[in-house]
Amino acid sequence: MNVLVTGGAGYIGSHTVLCLLNEGYHVIVLDNLCNSSVEAIKRVEQLTQQSVTFIEGDVCNKQHLENVFTKHKVDCVIHFAALKAVGESALQPLKYHHNNVSGSINLLSCMAKHQVNQFIFSSSATVYGEQNPYPYIETMPLGTPSSPYGTTKMIVERVLEDNNKANVDFKAISLRYFNPIGAHPSGEIGEDPSGIPNNLLPFVAQVAVGKREKLTVFGDDYPTPDGTCLRDYLHVMDLAEGHVAALNWLKQQTTLDEVAVFNLGTGTGTSVLNIIRAFETETGKPVPYEVANRREGDLPAFWANADKAKQVLKWQAKRDINAMMQDTWRWQSNNPDGYSK
Ligand code: NAD
Ligand code: UD1
Repeated sequence: MNVLVTGGAGYIGSHTVLCLLNEGYHVIVLDNLCNSSVEAIKRVEQLTQQSVTFIEGDVCNKQHLENVFTKHKVDCVIHFAALKAVGESALQPLKYHHNNVSGSINLLSCMAKHQVNQFIFSSSATVYGEQNPYPYIETMPLGTPSSPYGTTKMIVERVLEDNNKANVDFKAISLRYFNPIGAHPSGEIGEDPSGIPNNLLPFVAQVAVGKREKLTVFGDDYPTPDGTCLRDYLHVMDLAEGHVAALNWLKQQTTLDEVAVFNLGTGTGTSVLNIIRAFETETGKPVPYEVANRREGDLPAFWANADKAKQVLKWQAKRDINAMMQDTWRWQSNNPDGYSK
């Protein structure tokens, strides 16, 4: 079975490509490398001893897509390609809507033309918005995401629903990720953010490796046990395996009456201070930090109800916070400058 993975050179994509290859799938990656390096693909090939068809191209470019679907027989698409910097999305919303929404529509149109009907979409817990109580469960209505980035995910979920209603053959899954962290246990592939990291773990790891002086903890006056926010951190390898489980399930379904939605998380919340402590314990590296004001748009706490993925996909997160810290550190300390070393 041939799987087209858009954004497959990125953080989650590269780990998923590795898992797909290990499961015997043939993988074609389409990535414009706007936030990644082809080195990630080379390392996946080394780790798996298998080859990937890599195409440098853009989902916003209809000709690039047409070339891929004309040249390759594609059975299923896993669509990671997107821009994901929440802060930037507030400053440049049109860039985000163009890349994430128009890019997805181009892809779906090309799939329809070439009668490719199986689709797995990278959605996010951000689609639950601020209104829903946690833990988030798939039956909740979509909320109002706190950023234009989040809005793009919500819109694409809606587009998929409409497309599903209009086309009986179309089978789609939206996977709502919680907070992926960690790296492949080899330390060969991992998260390589450009510039100053926005997310917690890459920042913690860069402080520990000496690239940044200290971490800023955004607020310790939240109504949580230690005053810092709670999130559902899950190991990126568990998340990658979740995609394989989703694909294995999708291909067994003859039709789907609606888009199948699954939370991919662990079902527990961990505070920022507990993350710092776990990182220090597992790595022996101090993480100096100072507490500052809350970050705009942050919610005090959220985590997943992950029961549906367990029941239907037979998937659940297996790796604990300690493994997440050890693997983050192995990647960061072996590759202090990411893939560009
Ligand atoms: P990433 O930036 O590492 O990977 C995205 C990849 O897509 C990159 O390789 C980038 O070069 C590529 N890309 C972007 N726009 C493209 C385009 N127009 N055409 C072709 N390639 C393009 O990000 P990631 O963390 O691996 O995230 C993957 C997906 O998961 C994204 O859709 C993201 O929104 C979603 N997601 C991520 C998180 C997270 O915490 N990392 C959480 C929820 C959802
Ligand atoms: C952020 C995004 C969310 C996106 C998710 C995964 C915002 C408001 N939300 O969520 O839309 O889906 O990433 O990509 O950006 N923290 C610090 N110091 C730091 C960095 C983070 O204290 O330098 C804290 C944050 O306040 C938060 C926690 O660490 O409490 C996790 O932050 P982060 O990794 O950015 O993830 P989310 O806030 O969950």
